[in-house]
Amino acid sequence: MGGEFLQKRTVSRAWPSVEIHAIQYNSDNYSAWEIEPLKDFEEKTWRETAKHLVGWATLAPSAHNKQPWIVQLDENERHLLIQPDPGEIGAASDKEGRQTHVGIGCFVANLSLAMGSYDIPVTYKLIESRNQKKDIASVVFDLRDIQKGHLKNPQVLEYLRMRRAYRGPFVEGFDLPEPLLRQMEEISENEGVTLRIIRDQGRKNLLGKAQALADMAVLKIPAFRNELASHLVVNDSTQTKVMPGNTFGLNDQEAREVHDALSSSAQMPGHFAAGFPRSDQEGVIKSSAVLVILADEKKPQYFVRSGVALEKLWLYAQANGLGVRIMAGMIESPLHNLGLKKILGEKSKQPTVLACVGLPEKDTWPKSPREQIIF
Ligand SMILES: Cc1cc2nc3c(=O)[nH]c(=O)nc-3n(C[C@H](O)[C@H](O)[C@H](O)COP(=O)(O)O)c2cc1C
Repeated sequence: MGGEFLQKRTVSRAWPSVEIHAIQYNSDNYSAWEIEPLKDFEEKTWRETAKHLVGWATLAPSAHNKQPWIVQLDENERHLLIQPDPGEIGAASDKEGRQTHVGIGCFVANLSLAMGSYDIPVTYKLIESRNQKKDIASVVFDLRDIQKGHLKNPQVLEYLRMRRAYRGPFVEGFDLPEPLLRQMEEISENEGVTLRIIRDQGRKNLLGKAQALADMAVLKIPAFRNELASHLVVNDSTQTKVMPGNTFGLNDQEAREVHDALSSSAQMPGHFAAGFPRSDQEGVIKSSAVLVILADEKKPQYFVRSGVALEKLWLYAQANGLGVRIMAGMIESPLHNLGLKKILGEKSKQPTVLACVGLPEKDTWPKSPREQIIF
């Protein structure tokens, strides 16, 4: 849990390169990224220490950048409760709450790694319950010993700050070293999930086509478009729980056009309507590997575990100079999920995450904003 896997790197180059990953924005909605490691917590109260650790966790990825976590600090018990926001579950793109819980898992991974960086023992438990008629999984962290923490591994914190969703092209034909792949399998096993790695071109081509079809299908569903429109916004937006168009490689005018088209019932301009599926298809085909996380059961706690594994894999990939592209389409569309199982030859386990990894063609890529958690 302490992030030892991040030291077992196979190449000596992290992505993005250090000079370029500097914060590109000064607006308040990006200020969460300006968090700096502390030497220790001797001068901080317990509450301030918890706030600092949670500050690293909020840099975690989530579907649509919804940041679906609700966090409560219990000063008496010295616990932190992390719950999914029920308002975010059941929307068009997340009928089973899978995406939301995977995001919670990413938050849990970041919090664990931040605690490990300060040499704080990591203990948390997963609890399943029902809230607003939905099955949810919550996570309770034991924060009793946090004030004894002292900075032991600042590099891990740096990885948390460098991580970002990459949606650009990959360098074609880049082979991943075997030890890196074995380490990825081990990271997943440690979280109680299974990782399947697809590298042969035949199956990558099939998956690329399937992803493009899944994209085309969902872009035609009004409820899905509405949801995407409220998250895929203009580049100079001051909102915090959104994806500015530049994180999709769109310039200011393109970002506005796509947002406007998604917000109305009008047809998306043809080149954009075709551009998304084509870009995803290429992303899969030119990737070095497609990673599919599989869980034993279709239950919230397994979705959380999948998220913990995803974030750890993501950080490990970036620490090795690789970019990560997540594609939820094939997971969430029931037909494509079935197709994915067939391609994998999988009968019993449930695909929960699909991500492509490869060598990024673009050395720089924008960060997305974050909502800071106030206690
Ligand atoms: C569970 C999950 C599903 C995601 N699905 C997609 C997706 O289908 N397409 C995509 O482009 N990005 C996807 N992402 C990436 C998020 O949009 C991204 O993490 C978020 O916008 C925050 O940006 P950042 O990762 O650069 O901080 C997904 C991320 C997570 C955690």
